[in-house]
Amino acid sequence: MARIGASVYTSHVPAIGAAIDLGKTAEPYWQPLFEGFEFSKQWMKEHTPDVIFLVYNDHATAFSLDMIPTFAIGTAASFTPADEGWGPRPVPQVVGHPELASHIAQSVIQDDFDLTIVNKMDVDHGLTVPLNLMCGTPAAWPCAVIPFAVNVVQYPVPSGRRCFNLGKAVRKAVESYDAPLNVQIWGTGGMSHQLQGPRAGLINKEWDQRFLDRLIADPDGLAAMPHIDYVREAGSECIELVMWLIARGAMADVNGGPKPSVAHRFYHVPASNTAVGHLILENRQ
Ligand code: DHB
Ligand code: FE
Repeated sequence: MARIGASVYTSHVPAIGAAIDLGKTAEPYWQPLFEGFEFSKQWMKEHTPDVIFLVYNDHATAFSLDMIPTFAIGTAASFTPADEGWGPRPVPQVVGHPELASHIAQSVIQDDFDLTIVNKMDVDHGLTVPLNLMCGTPAAWPCAVIPFAVNVVQYPVPSGRRCFNLGKAVRKAVESYDAPLNVQIWGTGGMSHQLQGPRAGLINKEWDQRFLDRLIADPDGLAAMPHIDYVREAGSECIELVMWLIARGAMADVNGGPKPSVAHRFYHVPASNTAVGHLILENRQ
């Protein structure tokens, strides 16, 4: 059977992608940020999974106000990096895993989560920046990726509790897939950020660190946090963090197993106008 070996959490700031694409990663502004992912890139080489179930949000690229799926699973064989206004990023095509994606859709929908099944979708910085942070800039991504897009842009967005429970359903789906695949689940977006209005640039380091603490040690309690707390304390776009609860809900300890080990934790301000948070949690086998 397939199993979930680890979960990865990281912000996806588009300026990080631009810094990579323009060769600026060694500049003094960016160097400390990329240094924080050196461990992660090595870890990723040593723990390359067969498939990444990558929870992210689309930023009005594949979807728009015309159509707003709350949860959308990418079932295609491949996904093209999107043109977000400056031309597509020079990153590899994302190779999907239609069989596992279809199995997860089947299982999770039968478990009462309404997924939109997407057979054609371009993927924006929400998906490609985390791949760069964890994998560097290879000629091809090292494994298959199932894109799982969550609406955290246009309210109503899903609650933390619903995301956490969805993660549990994804775990059940993966564990009932009849092939010995090693799967990682990634939660991306966040942390502190507010991109517009009088509070633009708001950063709340204490709140972000507390979120990381609770994501590790008290995910069930964290899942009860209402949207207003995210938005008031750490900015309007901080609501992207509910996606991390999907990945956390898929870990062993919240499904009757042992606590995960923390392989890596990193936090850095600033990146563009926002904070960057990062965690790697491993399931003990
Ligand atoms: C920015 C955009 C994002 O989608 C995000 O998550 C963080 C920062 C930005 O435009 O700076
Ligand atoms: Fe974003």
